[in-house]
Amino acid sequence: MARRIIKWREGDPDGFGSARKARPPRELKRSEDKLGFPAGEADLKLIVDSTPGLIWSALPDGRNEWANRHYLEYVGLSPRELRDWGWTDLIHPEDLDRVMIALDSTLPSRDDRQAEARLRRHDGEYRWFLFSANAAIDEGGNVVRWHGMSTDIEARKRAEEELRRSEAFLAEGQHLAQIGNFSWRIATGEIIWSEPLYRIFEFELTVPVTLEAILARTHPEERQGLSEQIDRAQSGEVDLEHEYRILMADGSIKWLHLKGRRVQGTSSEVEYVGAVLDVTQRHLSQAALNSARSELAHVTRVMSLGTLAASIAHEINQPLSGIITNAGTCLRMLAGDQPNVEGALETARRTIRDGHRAADVVTRLRALFSKRPASIEPIDINHAALEVIALLRSDLCMGRVVLKTELADQLPLVAGDLVQLQQVIMNLVRNATDAMCGIEDRPRLLDIRTELDDRDHVRLIVKDSGAGISADESERIFEAFYTTKNEGMGMGLSISRAIIENHHGTLTAASNDGPGASFMVSIPASGEGILASSA
Ligand SMILES: Nc1ncnc2c1ncn2[C@@H]1O[C@H](COP(=O)(O)OP(=O)(O)OP(=O)(O)O)[C@@H](O)[C@H]1O
Ligand SMILES: [Mg+2]
Repeated sequence: MARRIIKWREGDPDGFGSARKARPPRELKRSEDKLGFPAGEADLKLIVDSTPGLIWSALPDGRNEWANRHYLEYVGLSPRELRDWGWTDLIHPEDLDRVMIALDSTLPSRDDRQAEARLRRHDGEYRWFLFSANAAIDEGGNVVRWHGMSTDIEARKRAEEELRRSEAFLAEGQHLAQIGNFSWRIATGEIIWSEPLYRIFEFELTVPVTLEAILARTHPEERQGLSEQIDRAQSGEVDLEHEYRILMADGSIKWLHLKGRRVQGTSSEVEYVGAVLDVTQRHLSQAALNSARSELAHVTRVMSLGTLAASIAHEINQPLSGIITNAGTCLRMLAGDQPNVEGALETARRTIRDGHRAADVVTRLRALFSKRPASIEPIDINHAALEVIALLRSDLCMGRVVLKTELADQLPLVAGDLVQLQQVIMNLVRNATDAMCGIEDRPRLLDIRTELDDRDHVRLIVKDSGAGISADESERIFEAFYTTKNEGMGMGLSISRAIIENHHGTLTAASNDGPGASFMVSIPASGEGILASSA
């Protein structure tokens, strides 16, 4: 509202004409001429009365002096009822203090006084009004009257309330979801954060956010990656998406997922708007899940060791008895009158070979059953399969299984953990052997094949001629604890599938055209371009 000081002069009988008397008649006349303003008090009163606002005047202490017709009709009171303190009845009791303070002429700065308060309409309904008052001041600087206008702001108040509520909902929702919003103007570098984002970063609300502050909070190992994202955004890359860690003042770590969309407003200015999600819990649970899974995988491997003990003992026993026999032969060859040195040398060489065979079995066993963290390295699937077959050879023999291997030449390497992948192959081969143990009317055929598919995935297929799987079983067998065996735990396939999915691959089962079932592992080639020849 424009500032307007009206000079008060004595002798204003109706308390209405201060405006009229504020200027000398000559000046008034000039403005009438210029603006075409209608002359006369009656006209002026008519205009004020019919203005669609509540217009009033009050004495310096706040007592009502006069109100326009619109005001009287709105509140449904007569001038007499409104006069003096009558008007205070119309103000909502909770808001009256505010209005009284606005009309306190002893307070400094008397112009443009405003207060928001609820005013009771003639039908009893309270609506929000903005009470605006200007002081008329005499030459001694004293307030002699308040001139005011009250405007209905109910719609604005409702909209504000609505906005406040939705902001509160949003803030609460963001707090619960551990999410915060941001906007970032590329040209000016101005960054605006929602309150929850300050909380996630544990930044002071009052400190302006800068890229430097964000980078300083970022985990040292992640700064480079985040800087690159920022550079790309600044040079106009379309969208932002990045997952990274921040390092808090107390040394703890939070995982954040950042997503930003590039928007161009009406001006040519480019701005990113987006959200940052605190995904620390997800990372912690994933880590806990991985560790539980690897514990379980280790336990099942060790259990396999138990069930394989007999065949492994056999596998080691064979070279050992070879060693003993060869050593005996060697002794004999050297002990005679004419020592057979050539023969003894050959026998000694065989002894060494058998010793190596036994040592190899022990080394493989140690690798497979030791407990160690997963490590990703380039793996030759053919070689991994052959090592497992070597360990299980006696098992297969005892189960009268006829093994056929068709390992593809020039198979690309896959990125993976050798022990985990060997565990999968071992689970599949042992399941196949189990599935064929009751088969008497046909050969127990085990076919292990590797190949490269047309999507650059390396496949390993374990096919048997055993009992087979029914259509409704083909997925259930991958559920944890699903088993049809007396001694089974039902964990082999579920662990195997989790391992293969961790390698971004798939493990599926299908019935053969003939008897038995096939299990297929499919893992993306590592893309390192290293080709392995079949062993
Ligand atoms: N090659 C197969 N042919 C037919 N059925 C199979 C084959 N492989 C698995 N199954 C079925 O799937 C079930 C689950 O196999 P899984 O390897 O998960 O557990 P398990 O072999 O029973 O016990 P373990 O935890 O010792 O491996 C088996 O009990 C069996 O019924
Ligand atoms: Mg099994």
